[in-house]
Amino acid sequence: MSDRRPLGASNKRHRSVVLPAIRTAYPVGESVADSVINVEDLLKRYPPDVNAVDGITFSVSGGTVFSMLGPNGAGKTTTVEILEGLRVPTNGKSNVFGVDTTKDYAKIRGRVGILPQNFEPFDNLKPIEALDYWAKLFDMRTARKEMNELLDVVGLSERKSLLSKKLSGGEKRKLGIALSLINEPELLFLDEPTTGLDPKARRDLWRLIEEIKREGTTVFLTTHYLDEAEKLSDDVAVMHRGKIIARGSPSELVSRYGKTTVVVLEGVGKDGLREITRRGIEASESDGDVTVPVSSPSEMRTIFAKLSSIELPVKDMYTRRQTLEDVFLSLVGTKMDEGVLQE
Ligand SMILES: Nc1ncnc2c1ncn2[C@@H]1O[C@H](COP(=O)(O)OP(=O)(O)O)[C@@H](O)[C@H]1O
Ligand SMILES: [Mg+2]
Repeated sequence: MSDRRPLGASNKRHRSVVLPAIRTAYPVGESVADSVINVEDLLKRYPPDVNAVDGITFSVSGGTVFSMLGPNGAGKTTTVEILEGLRVPTNGKSNVFGVDTTKDYAKIRGRVGILPQNFEPFDNLKPIEALDYWAKLFDMRTARKEMNELLDVVGLSERKSLLSKKLSGGEKRKLGIALSLINEPELLFLDEPTTGLDPKARRDLWRLIEEIKREGTTVFLTTHYLDEAEKLSDDVAVMHRGKIIARGSPSELVSRYGKTTVVVLEGVGKDGLREITRRGIEASESDGDVTVPVSSPSEMRTIFAKLSSIELPVKDMYTRRQTLEDVFLSLVGTKMDEGVLQE
């Protein structure tokens, strides 16, 4: 048997690895360290006057995980869909791989993978059939063996012959991610990949995202989960009402906007908070617990001296390091629960 390909197929891409190896295939003049995404003064206005994206500027470096973190309605999906060439901005610059996404998206489409928000793929196809269909849509000559490897990477090997509608929420997202990886993207958009999943499924997906990053793929993640952004991201943009209100690595954000330690006073409640703040101590309350940020041992002594003079119904007391959640609270002034800002 000849192994000659059918006519016309010779220029099609052929998968050699399941996940892209560290990329060397950047066009001349573009290096891995360069920005993969460049956004300047990006504005998206919906009639009559909603600025869903309100003049944001940022860039994303190759090979990193970039998280856009914010509550529902912050403008995350609008931003992502502009970068995916699906929406046209009202104003500003939106470049991916040096290409204007409003003009030349076709040039880079093959280098990008997309997991849309709330994506639930193909109820009546089995995972392996869904991959086969998707590969054909992308004009990929993906061998069955490679599709099986891809299902293995996302942890669906044992479920590949089940109809997709029988998969759990987490497994459906994994299938969505497998589909988004079929063209070996250099840049992968994951729009809220873990929203609504149980904690175990979320952690499973975190491992998968870390593996994708290890293979050299740049990941643009949107999330309203602070722990997710903290765990996965090299770089975080906190988005609120269409604007980026803070930017940096999780640890930079904590050191810039937070203090090093938090004293937690359990069960002190809103009444306790009033007493504490009346003595000039900066504190906040959630779920009955009061947290007091502290930046140095001497400040800790001062605060304890003041606290000991107040009658407080403390159930328990401990210190912990600050997290992105504390930073978010101090930036936005309220906590977030499943993407919804609390009153
Ligand atoms: N097609 C649309 N028409 C009008 N308003 C929209 C449209 N899409 C989104 N919005 C509004 O834009 C804002 C940002 O939405 P979105 O980008 O979906 O935010 P997020 O993904 O952070 O939840 C919201 O106020 C939303 O209601
Ligand atoms: Mg969204």
